[in-house]
Amino acid sequence: MTQDKLIQLLAELSIDEKINQMIQIIGQIYEKGAMVTGPASQYGINEENIRLAGSVLGSLGAKKLIKIQDDYMEQHPHHIPMIFMADIINGYRTIFPIPLAQGCTFNPDLVKEGAAVAAKESAAAGLHVTFSPMVDLARDARWGRVMESNGEDTYLSSCLAKAMVEGYQGKSVKEKGKIAACVKHFAGYGAPTAGRDYNNVELSERTFKEDYLPAYKAAIDAGSELVMTSFNTINRIPSTGNKELMREILRQEMGFTGVLISDWGAVQELISHGIAEDNNEAARLSIEAGVDIDMMSMIYCNRLKRLLEEGIITEQMIDECVMRILQLKNKLGLFENPYKDADAEEEKRLILCEEHRSLSRKLAAETFVLLTNEDGILPLPSEGKKIAFIGPYIACKRIHGSWSLFANQEDSVSIKEAVEGSGYLNHCLYERGCDLLEPGIEIPEFGEVFAKSVLTEEERQELLYSAVAAAKESEAVVLAIGEHPSQSGEAASKADITVARHQIELLKEIWKVNHNIIIVLFNGRPLDIRELCQYSKAILVAWLPGTEGGNAIVDVLFGKVNPSGKLAMTFPYSVGQIPVFYNEFATGRSYEEGDRTRFHSRYLDIPNKPLFPFGYGLSYTEFEYSGVELDKNIMSDNQTINAVVEVKNVGRYRGKEVVQLYIQDVKGNVVRPVRELKSFQKISLQPGESKKIIFSMNRDMLKFYQQDMRYEVEAGLFRIYIGGDSTTKNVAEFHYR
Ligand code: NOJ
Repeated sequence: MTQDKLIQLLAELSIDEKINQMIQIIGQIYEKGAMVTGPASQYGINEENIRLAGSVLGSLGAKKLIKIQDDYMEQHPHHIPMIFMADIINGYRTIFPIPLAQGCTFNPDLVKEGAAVAAKESAAAGLHVTFSPMVDLARDARWGRVMESNGEDTYLSSCLAKAMVEGYQGKSVKEKGKIAACVKHFAGYGAPTAGRDYNNVELSERTFKEDYLPAYKAAIDAGSELVMTSFNTINRIPSTGNKELMREILRQEMGFTGVLISDWGAVQELISHGIAEDNNEAARLSIEAGVDIDMMSMIYCNRLKRLLEEGIITEQMIDECVMRILQLKNKLGLFENPYKDADAEEEKRLILCEEHRSLSRKLAAETFVLLTNEDGILPLPSEGKKIAFIGPYIACKRIHGSWSLFANQEDSVSIKEAVEGSGYLNHCLYERGCDLLEPGIEIPEFGEVFAKSVLTEEERQELLYSAVAAAKESEAVVLAIGEHPSQSGEAASKADITVARHQIELLKEIWKVNHNIIIVLFNGRPLDIRELCQYSKAILVAWLPGTEGGNAIVDVLFGKVNPSGKLAMTFPYSVGQIPVFYNEFATGRSYEEGDRTRFHSRYLDIPNKPLFPFGYGLSYTEFEYSGVELDKNIMSDNQTINAVVEVKNVGRYRGKEVVQLYIQDVKGNVVRPVRELKSFQKISLQPGESKKIIFSMNRDMLKFYQQDMRYEVEAGLFRIYIGGDSTTKNVAEFHYR
């Protein structure tokens, strides 16, 4: 449809039709045959909303959505199609590892492929928009939603934000198999005070702009069609009603022209925040901020008309929002083809097809981070060994992460199934050892459901006894333990980030009879794993790996794939260090480990250094780095400097290495981070092979928010570090003039 036609269509809409374009309700209501009972009445949704709502969320399945679209359009006065949106976070039915794990690949191309598959499957299932990528910078492991982020680093997160948007949207969202992206949660949602979900955010303007905003900007520059508001406050103003944030920063400075949707109920939450007195004010603040769609608070549809009649808002404000929504529908091609790619046959053919499964397996294996590997216990031999596979995750198929809303557990491969199907000739024993959850602990899942252990004390003892017996008669133990999948994700903050006590007890009991323990850790966040390090020889962080998790783990355990993941988020020594991240600032009293004088920036009881730093991860092989060489030592204006290192595989296995470039601005007019990731390259080397890696550095990489808030470079000395993790000391220097 041409823009002229859209203008004409808008002019023909009644005010009720317009306002209802601006609401989003749950698809479940249509699935139940548009009855205003049950969930509809519970949410305050009436017949008119059902008839006119511009978009729905949370429903998928080609057959179902085609029917909903048909029924809806038939009775809509202008036959405008509705948009179907949902949270496709790490896959639709073929599930990929959680986003935090994907961050550890440092491989944007692969992440993009994963997003493209998610788009393909969900587009065939009728979807038009996914609420992804989530690019909230996450530096606090207590916050359950770190699992949805790409970790703690601005640059890495920006690269992955771009990759995901490109994967979902392709060149145009109209294309077959593409869906529109919605970057979220704008802005700063990843820094809730004390790590408690939905809590307020306190960030300096400089930190907010320099560290938190770039990943959203990267997604917007990549063309993300939508942005979602966040639940939190910024500068004491909740985002959804924050005019300066949305109109000035998002729209003017960042140049976003697409649809801005509120998070679920966030318009109404302006009242709970204490910034709006009532629904009228909540509606006014949100529309003044330029929020186009009210997701599920039903305030726009109940209040905007009245505000208009009272002259508090103008029709032009409404038109502006509705036009953006119509334009999105037009970009998706819905006026010509309201079903877009919904096709039941295609959906059946695509979901969980061989190609998608194999990408999921490949991606998962690249997300795993090998933290320790004493005596080279890994990889395990593929034959001739007696191995005990123990732990609640050995036979568990719920390995998707809490945002895999459409996943079917039965589709995934457990470690046990993978070992049995591997054809490796070891003598394997399998024992559960314990339940995933500690006795007495209940965790809320969706709705009113709670997960808990239902074992009796006697059954627990029996599990423990059999596990220890199996460990005793084996040469090695693979122990698969970790967090319950519902212990990370939305509303899953934790103050204690150690592994559950009863799992540690299992570990210690096994240690008494067998020291050859390899831990496979399932987790949605960095954990305090000091005890795990103490009582094991190897730790492989597997996160929540998705449909092909078991196969990918077995690929890595037995050396078919050499691990290459690097931590996208620091593993703290203990919760007391949090927030802890590599690109911290020097203080006036910085502390060198081992210094025995008192008045330094340090703890009395724990080290300053985290257990495992950002960018860290072992391989089965070893890489040797040459010193850093620069082609010049002075950079001015538009010049670039090339930094070169030679990386050699000096071990016995073929392997991939993430070569990381960090820059330190030694002196600035504001305090600068001790170093910042500015580039990386992932390379693959055969044993004995070496490669020259060249990084081209330019002035943009040196910019920061100056004292007067100009984003500029300041002349002076810079250090660059190139190595395999964020603590590398491989350094060179240059000046910017
Ligand atoms: C609330 C979450 O914060 C957001 O990320 C999600 O997209 C919406 N619910 C819709 O499910």
